[in-house]
Amino acid sequence: LDNGLARTPPMGWNSWNKFACKGLNEKVVRETADEMASNGMKDAGYQYVIIDDCWQTGRDAEGNIIVDAEKFPSGIKALADYIHSKGLKFGIYTDVGTMTCAKRPGSIGHEYQDARQYAAWGVDYLKEDWCNTLPNQNSESSYTLMREALKASGRPIVFSICEWGSTKPWLWAGPVGNLWRATPDIQDCWDCKREWGGGGVTQILDLMDGIESYSGPGHWNDPDMLEVGNGGMTTEEYRTHFSMWAIFSAPLLAGNDIAKMSADTKEILLNKEVIAIDQDALGQQGRRVKRNGDTEIWSKQLADGGRAVALVNRGKATESITVAWNEIGYPSTLPATIRNLWTHKDATAKGSFTAEVPSHGTILVRLNF
Ligand code: GLA
Repeated sequence: LDNGLARTPPMGWNSWNKFACKGLNEKVVRETADEMASNGMKDAGYQYVIIDDCWQTGRDAEGNIIVDAEKFPSGIKALADYIHSKGLKFGIYTDVGTMTCAKRPGSIGHEYQDARQYAAWGVDYLKEDWCNTLPNQNSESSYTLMREALKASGRPIVFSICEWGSTKPWLWAGPVGNLWRATPDIQDCWDCKREWGGGGVTQILDLMDGIESYSGPGHWNDPDMLEVGNGGMTTEEYRTHFSMWAIFSAPLLAGNDIAKMSADTKEILLNKEVIAIDQDALGQQGRRVKRNGDTEIWSKQLADGGRAVALVNRGKATESITVAWNEIGYPSTLPATIRNLWTHKDATAKGSFTAEVPSHGTILVRLNF
């Protein structure tokens, strides 16, 4: 969407993956904002603090949305003001249907009214979900309606489309939203599957392969929010998760309990060299250039002409993986510098580069020729 926003993939935090409906309240959100502003995340680029489903309860006689007063006794405006006072931005959630996925009121028939309310509260980011839609409700026109409502509100608001890839949003959402979910809900696991599609990290890797050309500045494919730090994967697997989201130019929305992060989690979320790959100005989604059994090579072109390369091992044992320059668009005669973005060490090589990659691990490097 050409609204001047999200020129690089949005970064921040969203309440859903950790707190879902039950754990959401203003105290948790304020504590998260405090922590983000002081623990290095804000300086590393994390900006949006987003409340997901369950902040709303009903509508009043005029159709105005009613805030859940048990969870948000001080109201949404006060929360937005607080987040803004920390130098951060505030995001909120709704649904194109009659109810959200957690059966709170949706925005259908109230798009302009809700958008005006969001603007009055100081909302900077809106995620709109796809539950409880009408029979045959059209995704493109539903989201276009909210795009127009947000525009009419007069406030710059990042628009995040969340229809889980159901109607191939990459084909139509470029002019409608700043980002769109390209996958069903992520699960905090390495390779579990869901009956209705999607699942763990490896499932999402496969779903992101092939839709690279639709993503770019202002209009991103979204492989869903981060699970880093939520406990369902090993540190090695979370490093792969974060590395690959950077290769995808994915929105980096932390989904863990920021106030109670382990040192490992913090090291992953705050790795500035990996974040720089995600936020690279060219905004090109990396592609899978080779797959050989359990090993994969992914490559992302960078604005300086270099390449971010991920050597991924989905197997159970350590694997030796080699990337040849001609597989990533460079002649094999050229020397290159190789920066390992997790060990922060430099090396040089000519023609190809080989690394030992642990089970479920990823060696993420930056190559410059
Ligand atoms: C859907 C979305 C999730 C989350 C929940 C909230 O499943 O895909 O990201 O917003 O709804 O109910």
